[in-house]
Amino acid sequence: MTPATPTTPAPPATPARFDGHSVLITAAGQGIGAATAHRLAAEGASVLVTDLDAERAQDTAAAIREAGGAAESLACDVADRAAVEAAVVHAVAVFGGLDVLVNNAYAAGQDAPLFEDETDDVWQRDLDITLSGPFRCARAALPHLAASGRGAIVTIGSVNGEQDFGGHAYSAAKAGLASLTRTLAGHAGPRGVRVNLVAPGTVRTDAWSGRDAELERLAALYPLGRVGTPEDIAAAVAFLASSDAAWITGTTLRVDGGILAVNTGFRRAMEGRG
Ligand SMILES: NC(=O)c1ccc[n+]([C@@H]2O[C@H](COP(=O)([O-])OP(=O)(O)OC[C@H]3O[C@@H](n4cnc5c(N)ncnc54)[C@H](O)[C@@H]3O)[C@@H](O)[C@H]2O)c1
Repeated sequence: MTPATPTTPAPPATPARFDGHSVLITAAGQGIGAATAHRLAAEGASVLVTDLDAERAQDTAAAIREAGGAAESLACDVADRAAVEAAVVHAVAVFGGLDVLVNNAYAAGQDAPLFEDETDDVWQRDLDITLSGPFRCARAALPHLAASGRGAIVTIGSVNGEQDFGGHAYSAAKAGLASLTRTLAGHAGPRGVRVNLVAPGTVRTDAWSGRDAELERLAALYPLGRVGTPEDIAAAVAFLASSDAAWITGTTLRVDGGILAVNTGFRRAMEGRG
């Protein structure tokens, strides 16, 4: 019997969108940062994996190399201007330039039960790591990204920047990142650098370890019926960092299973489902 002639050609293999690109990513020792480092390396990038925790950064870089990718690691605390500048210099020295910066580090202190008991320490630390960290990294990286001719910054925000999910300081910092993304896009666009923000909903990472029951309850609120994976976020970062997003800058891409768009609680109440 003659085999049927296929009517549609097979889709082309995913192109290696980051061949010859150099990437610096913060807080990539685990979670979304590690998944993003793996994704970009799998698409051809040379990645400088940085993290506050040197060992974690080394582990991610080693795993990337084991998978056949190119990666180096360096300890970097995004609260430390000198460390951030050293990381950028290191990436440029080792890879010969810098094409992509992924700002992923954050701090999220616990809210006090009463707002009037909130401490300056939590407020200042959350803002310093979550909002000022990306500022420091972008400031150090921008001249090199501009020199690359295809520079891109992708910062990890959060749905907390757009709606109340708790976390006063963390949420304020994430909202601030949307503004920084816009003002920096305005400044960097004429220099050939695009700047975008990804706003994830709940993502199962070590940040949620030991809270499986809570994640299950939260999953039920998501229109798509599950919480996110680090790989869901990595795919969006890769898109925004790539030339597929060549005419996208200053924007926030929600990668949130629909939680910000759909008021699940309201719909259930309307339908009498509590
Ligand atoms: N997991 C979620 O549900 C979720 C939801 C929305 C947004 N996000 C955002 O995604 C990003 C990554 O979150 P995650 O859950 O993958 O993180 P995670 O908690 O699993 O890992 C965080 C990493 O950051 C490193 N780190 C901490 N402080 C640092 C500093 N000062 N400098 C450099 N590195 C530092 C830690 O060593 C750790 O390796 C964050 O920006 C977070 O706000 C996460």
